[in-house]
Amino acid sequence: MLVFAKIKSIQQKIKSLKKGTAIGFVPTMGALHKGHLSLIKQAKKENDIVIVSIFVNPTQFDKQEDLVNYPKTIDSDLSLLKSVSCDIVFTPTADEIYSSNIISQLFNFDGLEHQMEGKFRDGHFDGVGTIVKRLFEIVTPTKSYFGEKDFQQLQIIRKMVEKHQISTKIIGCEIYREADGLAMSSRNSRLTKEHRKVAPFIYKTLKEAKKEFGIKSAIEVIDWVENEFKNQPLLELEYFEIAVEETLQPIKNKDQEQKYRAFIAVFADKIRLIDNISL
Ligand code: PAJ
Repeated sequence: MLVFAKIKSIQQKIKSLKKGTAIGFVPTMGALHKGHLSLIKQAKKENDIVIVSIFVNPTQFDKQEDLVNYPKTIDSDLSLLKSVSCDIVFTPTADEIYSSNIISQLFNFDGLEHQMEGKFRDGHFDGVGTIVKRLFEIVTPTKSYFGEKDFQQLQIIRKMVEKHQISTKIIGCEIYREADGLAMSSRNSRLTKEHRKVAPFIYKTLKEAKKEFGIKSAIEVIDWVENEFKNQPLLELEYFEIAVEETLQPIKNKDQEQKYRAFIAVFADKIRLIDNISL
């Protein structure tokens, strides 16, 4: 496994690959867990080599505190990457990516950026777009892998690739969960014992909401979920929304032709957890 921190050196390596080598790319912010590894395993199956980037991108954090507290576990990350036979790791510094100008490019994602996470995390998706576009330019991947865990991010990246005519195929990967249903996340390790114990309630409620959606209106399902969380003092609901998968617009009237997904964000004390389910 090769590790590069400099853009020039990874580009040199990529240039030296045999023409037509299929490059699978998995961008991450490190603190790797089995959810990340599931993306890498899929990329290994579908490409000749796999490149993983580890970069805690400053421009996508709206709170300095979250950036500072983001877990950094590079030694364990590298050994996990070796264990799944990752070929190349890219670990740039902020200076290498942004020089001294740590700001985002501004994007228009046709409204995708104004829904859900966009309402609660100011400038977040401009930051994500900026870094992912830059990484695509450096890595020139054939296929790039993103988790449905961050479904809004996945749709925004698809939109960016389409609008900016970037030549990589975006592959969405299923949410990888703990045995009790909690979606794997780097933040789970920061939960208190008490909060970790109740956190599976989030996915359990999503699954029940999916059932309810079969027989009830969207408003009734939303009311039901909001009430469920009122009885759960350790978890504070930030939002629960049912939206059209492609546009992420909130549901109006249930239409058999449309694909819908339910999205949720919850605070477990100070830790913010998100999840979603296809309906
Ligand atoms: P990060 O949170 O490290 O996630 C990297 C990738 O792993 C994302 O595509 C995310 O959706 C996926 N992922 C995380 N947990 C998952 C799970 N439980 N199941 C399946 N996939 C999961 O997302 C980012 O980093 C950043 O925004 C990034 C795209 C790297 C840009 O900085």
